Amino acid sequence: MKSIHIQSESDYQNAVAKWKKSPDDFWADIANAYTWLKPWNKVVEADFPKADFKWFLGGKLNITLNALDRHVEAHPDKTAILWEPNNPKDPHLEISYKDLLKRVSKMAHAMKAQGIEKGDRVCLYMPMIPELAVAVLACARIGAVHSVVFAGFSAQSLADRIQDSHCKLVITSDELKRGGKIVGIKNIVDQALESCPSVTSVLVAQSTGASIPMQNGRDHWLEEVQKNQADFIEAEEMDSEDPLFILYTSGSTGKPKGVVHTCGGYMVYAGYSFLNVFQVGKEDVYWCTADIGWITGHTYIVYGPLLAGATTTMFEGVPTWPDAGRFWAICEKHKINQFYTAPTAIRALMAKGDEFVDAYPLKDLKVIGSVGEPINEEAWVWYHEKVGKKNCPVVDTWWQTETGGIMISALGDVGPQKPTFAGRPLPGVDPILVDNEGNLIEENNQEGLLCIRSPWPSMIRTTYGDHQRCINTYFSAYKGYYFTGDGAKRDADGHYRIIGRVDDVINVSGHRFGTAEIENAIDEHPEVVESAVVGFPHDIKGQGIYAYVILSKKPENQERLREEIQSELVKAIGPIAKPDAIQFVSGLPKTRSGKIMRRILRKVASGESDQLGDTSTLLDPEVVEEIISGSKHFVS
Ligand code: WTA
Repeated sequence: MKSIHIQSESDYQNAVAKWKKSPDDFWADIANAYTWLKPWNKVVEADFPKADFKWFLGGKLNITLNALDRHVEAHPDKTAILWEPNNPKDPHLEISYKDLLKRVSKMAHAMKAQGIEKGDRVCLYMPMIPELAVAVLACARIGAVHSVVFAGFSAQSLADRIQDSHCKLVITSDELKRGGKIVGIKNIVDQALESCPSVTSVLVAQSTGASIPMQNGRDHWLEEVQKNQADFIEAEEMDSEDPLFILYTSGSTGKPKGVVHTCGGYMVYAGYSFLNVFQVGKEDVYWCTADIGWITGHTYIVYGPLLAGATTTMFEGVPTWPDAGRFWAICEKHKINQFYTAPTAIRALMAKGDEFVDAYPLKDLKVIGSVGEPINEEAWVWYHEKVGKKNCPVVDTWWQTETGGIMISALGDVGPQKPTFAGRPLPGVDPILVDNEGNLIEENNQEGLLCIRSPWPSMIRTTYGDHQRCINTYFSAYKGYYFTGDGAKRDADGHYRIIGRVDDVINVSGHRFGTAEIENAIDEHPEVVESAVVGFPHDIKGQGIYAYVILSKKPENQERLREEIQSELVKAIGPIAKPDAIQFVSGLPKTRSGKIMRRILRKVASGESDQLGDTSTLLDPEVVEEIISGSKHFVS
């Protein structure tokens, strides 16, 4: 993959110049670093208004030939996946490229034995055990489309996702370990499947070895189905534009949507961005702490590192168990060279005190990364000084589920660093800022709406089962551009600083929630008439969830009602969606046309009720007074 490696500022400048001169030649060169079963005959066809994008047209490939077989030939015994268990007392695992291909082949045969064929959707609802990465790759090997659902989502959320894409098979495990806790996730699958007739079989990996109910004919132990399978399977020939996976994510409206990524473009961009952002050398050990249930885990635990032939670390546990030094102990134990985590984890660990990180020299670290939300200056400085020991560049990577890979970021130590700025776009990425009317903002140091003007290989292709929704969400607001939903600022050197979402998406600990999705769940409570949810600044989580709720009658016990509303949310979405504050109100600030003025609610929730701005269009200004006077009691 040498041809795509940017190692100096002049490489960066040359790459940008090359892309500006001929984007097609630029991307063709990158794509040529991979093995194709049949070469493509055209680099790209793009129609923004119709959200119709095709990359590497006519090309045939299988991503696993590039992520596995190529490396099995070149360095079969190199560790592909380094797996660190939840409990530090249990042994870790080193899975070589050779062994990984064997495991993937066996699992692929096991899936075929359940009747899974190319194009079928397979849902993975699993802990961070090696079988999850293996299952992702096994789907790709046979052309099945994986839909990984984060194992913290509730049965109802899981059912929604399975139903939306009509999955045939679910792969799960008996239980899940998370720090000192055990979660019975097969049990959650059983509940979800009560309303998922498309699922004909369930494969269950053993994580804790607990004895759990198995439904006859439907449920099988993965180990048993795999036992006698061959340890090699031919890779299915896929078209560049065949879907590789679906990943559900929240937006401003409605239920979470299934973002679809395809084989060719995603492969090209995942490998290219990984190599350049993290600057991973041949002998390096790389670790991304995300869960594979999110896009970060897809692209930068599984596909990106393996495409580059790197050693990727997978961690089953949590950062604060057995103590808040767990991350740093793992870095030390495995001599981690590149470390990639989220600001929420950095802030949480920072709050526990410096002694946990100071105990470890962390001499092997070369690059430390951040993703998922804006990183505030205090957290950036702590990360740089305490973790990076002032020796490592911080790569603040901006991207989204929809972009498939990192779009704006420093590239290791190539080029300048600016705290709290994500930095410059990767060569080939074309960000612009527009105003509310869609006019291009050419001047620097101004806030604007972040859009992308040119197509890139790993861009979203559709929202599963509803292409119009994809058009409406991303390609309609500002004609001819992809709209990110984020606000940003660009400085005179072309560095971007991401400000945050400008739509009704809340980013809690790096997890995206639509306000509508949370409101719908709250409204399920029989005593709730209406609710409005906004985000507010939270020291650890970045944003917290603040819910304003109108009740049908005066509650006898407010605390009990709050708990019931919390459990409605846990049921509908999962524990990660619990609000931080619930305030009961008699009305909501609405305009004469009935629209909730969320701006006001956001200000009140943020403790800035002295800066409400113009409230003259409100139907009932008195309600604002009531909201302000009641607010302070409830922010936790
Ligand atoms: C936010 C995660 C600031 C942003 C990869 C985006 C960030 C949303 C950054 C996507 C960053 C992600 N700085 N904000 N470095 N990275 N975001 O789909 O609001 O889970 O739109 O993808 O996270 O979240 P998603």
